[in-house]
Amino acid sequence: MTEPILEVENLTIQFRVKGKVIGHGGSRRKWKRVLNGVTFSIKEGETFGIVGETGSGKTTLARTLVGIYRPKESYVKLYGRRIDYTKKEDLLLLRKTIGIVFQDPVGSLNPRVTVSDIISEGIIAKGKMSDEQRKEKIVEAANLVELPASKLDSYPPELSGGEKQRVSLARTLIGGKKILVLDEPTSSLDVSIQAQILNLLTRLKRELSISYIFITHDLNVIKYMTDRVAVLYYGEILEQGSTEEIFENPRHPYTSDLIEANISFSSSSEFSEEKVSGEPSGEGCIYKNSCSKRFSACEKTPPYFSYGKGAVKCWLYDYMGERKAGIGR
Ligand SMILES: Nc1ncnc2c1ncn2[C@@H]1O[C@H](COP(=O)(O)OP(=O)(O)OP(=O)(O)O)[C@@H](O)[C@H]1O
Ligand code: SF4
Ligand SMILES: [Mg+2]
Repeated sequence: MTEPILEVENLTIQFRVKGKVIGHGGSRRKWKRVLNGVTFSIKEGETFGIVGETGSGKTTLARTLVGIYRPKESYVKLYGRRIDYTKKEDLLLLRKTIGIVFQDPVGSLNPRVTVSDIISEGIIAKGKMSDEQRKEKIVEAANLVELPASKLDSYPPELSGGEKQRVSLARTLIGGKKILVLDEPTSSLDVSIQAQILNLLTRLKRELSISYIFITHDLNVIKYMTDRVAVLYYGEILEQGSTEEIFENPRHPYTSDLIEANISFSSSSEFSEEKVSGEPSGEGCIYKNSCSKRFSACEKTPPYFSYGKGAVKCWLYDYMGERKAGIGR
């Protein structure tokens, strides 16, 4: 693997929300920070996972990466070039390079447009193509995602969930994207169909040498699909590293809690939607309200401590802390 093709540095996103401002007796606009200092990079052909519970900011991150949300400051580099979201040419480069597949294929496909026309939406420079060339490209994209050509004249409501997701994928791939942001691409599908789509994604990655940013709350999918993973908690990455190492030796207490909860969920017959963690702390370590390993240092915000190819945001891993706590490599 070579140089990173995408670098995200210190990405911070906040939304204006309605809320009461104490002392003013009324409703005032205030800011809610949804992503805070998110930093990671990916290389060609790599699958980078983002795992986090509901509300942790996964979709906000996905939407920002493809330019749906456009921060005024520049936090993203593509092929080493800093992307300015206010510049047309930078947004075009972003559109050409990064595609997105959403969780809900129903909401992302116009029910009144044929499959063929939906797939062709992904062609960036349509003007330069004859009708014949356009049709050829559409059939090629449909073949790639194993969508029968007989479905090209259908409308989305006539398709199954798995077929809809194949249409979304074909629309993204037809433009020759190098990076796909997959925002929970299988969570709305039946289990057997999920496996088909995951296998298709694995084959496409191998054949096309594309990179994935695979976003999910499902640790089993992360384990199966990704090379490296970042653990997102209320907009902050608390740990990132190789998937294998993180599953074998999770360092951050939140990562351990997630993995432990996942084991108990998968061994119980009921699906639990309960959150593993409580509310974040506004001061000191963001996880301190839920952390069983909390100690005096945690009143201050920890920085990232590097280990090998990973990093963890927890005081247990500063040099002295690591020795004192007897934890480490
Ligand atoms: N446009 C917006 N304006 C205000 N708040 C927003 C907006 N979009 C998202 N949020 C808030 O940001 C937080 C993160 O939302 P986001 O959809 O990114 O989470 P998520 O990790 O994708 O969750 P899920 O697993 O449920 O899809 C939530 O608290 C959400 O309410
Ligand atoms: S810094 Fe402290 S509170 Fe935060 S995760 Fe580490 S041990 Fe727990
Ligand atoms: Mg989401």
